[in-house]
Amino acid sequence: MITNLQLPSVITVDGPSASGKGTLADTIAQKLGWHWLDSGALYRLSALSIMNNGIPPDNETKIADAARNLNVCFKNQQVLLDNDDVSDSLRQEEVGALASRIATYPLLREALLERQRAFRKAPGLVADGRDMGTVIFPDAKLKIFLVADVGKRAERRYKQLIEKGISANLSVLLEELRLRDERDMNRSLAPLAPAPDAKIIDSSNLTVNETVARVMAYWAELNPVT
Ligand code: C5P
Repeated sequence: MITNLQLPSVITVDGPSASGKGTLADTIAQKLGWHWLDSGALYRLSALSIMNNGIPPDNETKIADAARNLNVCFKNQQVLLDNDDVSDSLRQEEVGALASRIATYPLLREALLERQRAFRKAPGLVADGRDMGTVIFPDAKLKIFLVADVGKRAERRYKQLIEKGISANLSVLLEELRLRDERDMNRSLAPLAPAPDAKIIDSSNLTVNETVARVMAYWAELNPVT
């Protein structure tokens, strides 16, 4: 029988949209030489897939089927959907908003469950999302809940989009983030919330390096060198 003791370690990073979870999780994974799961990308890929295939956003069963059958490949920094590079289109606000809408469907969450757990491979996994510490990897060794002021998050998302050549409007982004937070926190299934044993970090006034250093310090506390 496989026990948790034999499973590769997991660090989870949950938090609201644009709190910097992705950058933090990716950096920690690189520092530790571990794998990285960007679970939001799976919800975004499901959204993109239904947009591409004309599946109505209220057809929960068809959406879950589409998610179960996603033909996706994560290659370095690229994401391929049906062999097309969708790395940039995935980040569009329209896709994020639809992802947040369909993420309320229990059948979709169920369809993505095992796909997410399959990322848990040696030597370890850093997983970011909304329910990584509460639902997907409740036995994670270290759980981080990353928050930041919504105004700061809107500014960061705006900069990211502009740098990628995607047009954006700051006040629209702010409103969309507020809506997304509200929907993610108030849905009945797997709402955005810190696990009881999560460490909460407010990154509003921290640089990426400072945030990374805090997480690495928590990890070092759990793994003292003897
Ligand atoms: O993190 P990201 O903004 O890419 O996620 C897009 C949407 O997918 C979120 O707004 C959220 O509704 C949903 N999501 C989720 N559970 C996760 C990751 C993302 O419900 N673990």
